[in-house]
Amino acid sequence: MSQTEQQARDWLAQARSICVLTGAGMSAESGIPTFRDALTGLWSRFDPMQLACEDGFRADPQLVWDWYASRREGVRAAQPNAGHLALAEFQRRHPGRLAIVTQNVDDLHQRAGSEGVIRLHGDILEDRWFGPCRRHVARAGNVCDPAWAEPGSPPRCGECGNLVRPGVVWFGEMLPVAALEAAERAARGCDLMLVVGTSGAVYPAAGLAHTARRAGARVVVLNPQASELDDVAHACLRGTAAVQLPKLLQAPPLH
Ligand code: OAD
Repeated sequence: MSQTEQQARDWLAQARSICVLTGAGMSAESGIPTFRDALTGLWSRFDPMQLACEDGFRADPQLVWDWYASRREGVRAAQPNAGHLALAEFQRRHPGRLAIVTQNVDDLHQRAGSEGVIRLHGDILEDRWFGPCRRHVARAGNVCDPAWAEPGSPPRCGECGNLVRPGVVWFGEMLPVAALEAAERAARGCDLMLVVGTSGAVYPAAGLAHTARRAGARVVVLNPQASELDDVAHACLRGTAAVQLPKLLQAPPLH
């Protein structure tokens, strides 16, 4: 074990409250592509202004819907990797000690068995109305019941006529308020923040590492490449989530 790995293990053993901020790299070894990796990242092949903002959806709803439909298939076919499982196992062994805040729109943390995952960028498997529903009292987050959707690409809500869109946060949109508040509380209250598999390029999510550092937490970045949060970190572990997390989180030692 390297000196940095040992140092991170010591901080983990001492921490009463751990906050793990995850990004697309967390699910890369489950076969879900990241966004900004040079050759394999989605944004190296697709235009986010076409596919991940409201104007893009307005301009070509079918293109956007079909793109998310194929990503949904990828998510449904994927399985949690050893990193997701190690985090869930740690939470089982130490209830209440480790919170997960994710930018990922897949459900792999949940399927690995993690509870209370804070999801900053929504849920790709959820359907939402594109506009506010005028016929019914709006459901939390403007979520459309799939049973109401009339087939199409994209489908329309059979109840209120709205176009249906995926329940992810697009560029230019607000993050879900309750999730962001919960994430900020977790970042302010932790003594150790692990930043796993994120480029740190997207705010406000990346700002959580700064928040944790300002509040006095140790910050450890886990990423095979340099990230924009390396400067905020006390230590950087160069490796992948599925390899490094099981090593870092395995029992013992605990003080
Ligand atoms: P990025 O694609 O920007 O960054 C992925 C990071 O994961 C990079 O720093 C990689 O080096 C690292 N990485 C790659 N493989 C890894 C592995 N096996 N283990 C660990 N790390 C690995 O993804 P995010 O930072 O998550 O927004 O991107 C932030 C947001 O931008 C996303 O949530 C998405 C996107 O637009 C929405 O979906 C709303």
